Amino acid sequence: MAKGILHTHYLVVVLFLIIYVIKTVLLLSNNNDLLLKFSKKVKVPEIIISFLFLATGIYLMVQLPVIHYLMWVKLVLVFASIPIAVIGFKKGNKILAALSLMMITASFGIAEIAKKKKMQADNSLIASNDGKALYENNCKSCHGIDGKAGLSGAKDLSVTMLHAEGIIEVILHGQNMMQPVPVTNEQAAAISAYVDTNLKGQ
Ligand code: HEC
Repeated sequence: MAKGILHTHYLVVVLFLIIYVIKTVLLLSNNNDLLLKFSKKVKVPEIIISFLFLATGIYLMVQLPVIHYLMWVKLVLVFASIPIAVIGFKKGNKILAALSLMMITASFGIAEIAKKKKMQADNSLIASNDGKALYENNCKSCHGIDGKAGLSGAKDLSVTMLHAEGIIEVILHGQNMMQPVPVTNEQAAAISAYVDTNLKGQ
């Protein structure tokens, strides 16, 4: 379900940006008649797309275990760009229209950076066979200290049917909504052994 929402979010963001870019280009190139025609044509789809854009975005945001400060920057940029765009297009103000497009595009880039930074735990001070410390550093935020927390859709590790090999696979390659965790093979094996012997069946 969450995966479908993520895909829907990407799709509507791309559609939203396409409409937005076309409108801005028409405004900047003084094609006012065409802009008016285009705006009329996309009016209803645009309302639906904007609604889905915000609804899926908010849904995904409340799923996050921790909200990186960059996510807030992104949110502020998106919400601030809306009134600027409305005024810009209504008054035919090219600077405001271009500015709002820049803000939306920047928030898109920020989202990508935030995603890469998210959950990049620093494991450099932990011995690569210390499964417990590695687990707490990399997994606790979603799965909880005992594996049962189930935050942001995480599965309960105390009842997983997976064996050590399968757990390593999930850590290194992810599974559905769980992104791969950036650890070495050795660290993944230590974490997996810890989960298998200490959390499973508790
Ligand atoms: C950002 C949150 C998050 C982090 C951090 C995280 N997980 Fe997960 N994990 C999830 C989610 C969400 C799922 C459910 C995926 C699905 O729907 O199949 C999951 C599923 C799993 C599963 C599959 C369980 C099953 O029975 O199918 C295992 C095993 C697992 N995680 C282990 C780990 C380990 C070990 C770590 C740390 C190295 C970790 N996870 C870090 C969110 C997270």
